[in-house]
Amino acid sequence: MKDKTATNVHTAFVGEAKAYQRLLMFAEKAEREELPQIAHLFRAVASAESVHSRRHFAMLESVADTQTNLEQAFQSERAVNGVHYPEMLREAEEDNEETAVLVFSQVRDVEAEHAELYKKALNHLIAQRSTDYYVCTVCGHIADGQLPKTCPICGAPNSKFEKVS
Ligand SMILES: [Fe+2]
Ligand SMILES: [Fe+2]
Repeated sequence: MKDKTATNVHTAFVGEAKAYQRLLMFAEKAEREELPQIAHLFRAVASAESVHSRRHFAMLESVADTQTNLEQAFQSERAVNGVHYPEMLREAEEDNEETAVLVFSQVRDVEAEHAELYKKALNHLIAQRSTDYYVCTVCGHIADGQLPKTCPICGAPNSKFEKVS
């Protein structure tokens, strides 16, 4: 694909992925405001934007086999944990942006855990094992097997965890 179009496809992918998340948050808000039909509409459009983002992604990259994907996912977590979040954290500290400092530091730590989970999978410790995963809806920490009393990363109570199906 030529450069200009590739850049546009990437921009479109990011925009649609962002819209998907934003619309789901709008839907949650509408639910809280007791407007279930509006929430339903937001979820329907979100689902359509998800189709768009996947369509754009497919023009940029093809999805490889699972072994390759695990390696790619592992490397990507390592990079965000070891390089990208630390850099963004340092800049947020320089700017005295307290919320961004807190969020970046918690997310950086959670990404290290994600890398560990992928490493276990790459070492064949997961494919044959059945476990429950619980995700902290505040910070993204993943509890493997057992629901903790509070989140070890952000301190949220376990009512904030969601079991992954
Ligand atoms: Fe991650
Ligand atoms: Fe958390």
